[in-house]
Parts: sequence; C-alpha cells; structure tokens
Amino acid sequence: MLKLIVLTDLHMVPRGTRIIGLDPYRRLASGIRHIATHHADADAVIVLGDLAHRGDVASYRRLVPLLRRLPQPVHLMLGNHDDRSSFRRVFPAVPLDPSGYAQQVIDLAGYRLVLLDTLDAPADGRPGSAAGRLCAMRRAWLDAALASAGRRRVLLFMHHPPGPTGFSGMDAVRLADGEDVFRLLHRYGNVAHIFAGHIHRTINGTWHGMPFSMFKSPVHQQPMAFASASASLSVDEPAAYGIVLAGEHGVVVHTDDYEISGPWLKRHCRGEVHRRSLSADDGGCRTDEQGARRRTSEAP
Ligand SMILES: [Fe+2]
Repeated sequence: MLKLIVLTDLHMVPRGTRIIGLDPYRRLASGIRHIATHHADADAVIVLGDLAHRGDVASYRRLVPLLRRLPQPVHLMLGNHDDRSSFRRVFPAVPLDPSGYAQQVIDLAGYRLVLLDTLDAPADGRPGSAAGRLCAMRRAWLDAALASAGRRRVLLFMHHPPGPTGFSGMDAVRLADGEDVFRLLHRYGNVAHIFAGHIHRTINGTWHGMPFSMFKSPVHQQPMAFASASASLSVDEPAAYGIVLAGEHGVVVHTDDYEISGPWLKRHCRGEVHRRSLSADDGGCRTDEQGARRRTSEAP
C-alpha cells in the first residue's frame, strides 16, 4: 500500500520572525520530528507550497536542514507566497517541466502522483497574485500527464483549490482556471483524489464528483469565518499534517493534529515503526516488524 505524508503551508520566516506570535520554525520542527518518529515507513512526503512566508532566500535556507531530517524523499511544490527565483537558488534539484514550471510526475505503487505548479507567475520568476493560475502551457503538461498514466490511478496535488470551500475571502483567491482544469480531468476520468493547500484548514468533499482533501498548516490556521471577505485571517489552533493510504481498495485520508496527539502516541507507540491496520477493531498498535499487536487501555 502506498503511504504518503502531506504537509502544506509551511510559511517559513527568517530567524527571529513570528506569525501571529507563532514560530514557524519550531512548529515545523515539531511536525518533522513527529513524522520521523511515527511514519518513517511512509513512501514520500509531499509539501503543497507556501514554503516561505515572503519567498526570501533566508527562509528557504532554514528549511533545508529541517527537511533533511525526514527519512523519506520530500517533494516540494510552490504556492502564492513563494518566489520562483529564490526557491530555485536554494532548491536547484527540484524537477521542472519543459516550460520551466515546478511540475512533476512520480509513479509509485500503482499510482501516478501529479504535482502541479499553480503559482500565478511566469516561469521566469516575476511576481504574481494571491490567486492561483494553471496557464495553457501548464494545462497542456497536465493533459499529457493524465493521458500517459496508463492503468495507474492519479493523485493530483496543487496548492490552490480548483473549487470553492465556503470561505468567501479564500474562494476569491482560489485557482482562477479551476473550471478549465475540471473539464480536462473529466476528459480522462482517472483522477482518484485531489489534494490542495492554501486554505490552512482540514476540509474534505467533492467537486464535480471528484473527492478532495485539504489540510491545516504547521503554523497558523483559517478561522471558521465563512462570510468574511478577507483572505488574511489567521488563528492559533493545533498544527496538522495529512496521511494518505492508497491501495487497491482506493484512497483513505487522515489528518493528525500532531501537537496534541503526540503525548498519546508517545505513551503507547514509542519507538515503533507501525502501521495501524485498516481492519483493526481495538485501537491497538500493530508492530509490523514483530508481527504482534499491543493492546492499549484507551480508545484510539
Ligand atoms: Fe498559505
């Protein structure tokens, strides 16, 4: 079974800078420690963009040693807070599509992961807007990625949601070409799940019959202010990341509020590389290496 960890909206800042009083470096370091401890068996980590709060080189450089602590491959994407040229200076090895956009295909365990670049700025790096864009060149690349997927089901990752979420302010800065993208996806019908960031909130649902999931940030979150026209609201709630299990059965998506779930896991699953069995009925922790299940006295 394919197991992915999804992080989004890291919003790294230069040393000594905070966002609504929160330290993005400390919050992310805590999340990375949590992933490395409890999900070392994941196949990859996908980071859905907004890597740096102001797209500056110093912030991207702070990410490098942190991300190296993860035991699995890490695949970086861009969001509206990112800057192409600063990002490329610090992460020159991230693959680009033939037009220079940070888009890539990763084939893993029978699935095709398609990572899109929705930053509304040309490939030469000039600044864009908070809303997302998947221009004709990038949509043509997506078309080819879907067409060549063969029998693989596609997991589609993008920073900007292509459909509405109910948050008026954020919906105004979602993917501007969303309907064009959905027309393209329907032409092939091979997308199993869409993953997006940008909102800083755990949200699940369907758009045009396609299931999607979004996750909270390691740092600041979107308050439940549906009617607000602002796209800049932030609240301090527990940080989270997503866990995706994909196999022949389909796709299962979890989120872990790691700053409040950590103590439970620490008591009961310390040091174990474990997978929770999808059929487990007692909330126990299965230790694959030992083939044994340790029962616990608390509900999951
Ligand atoms: Fe963000």
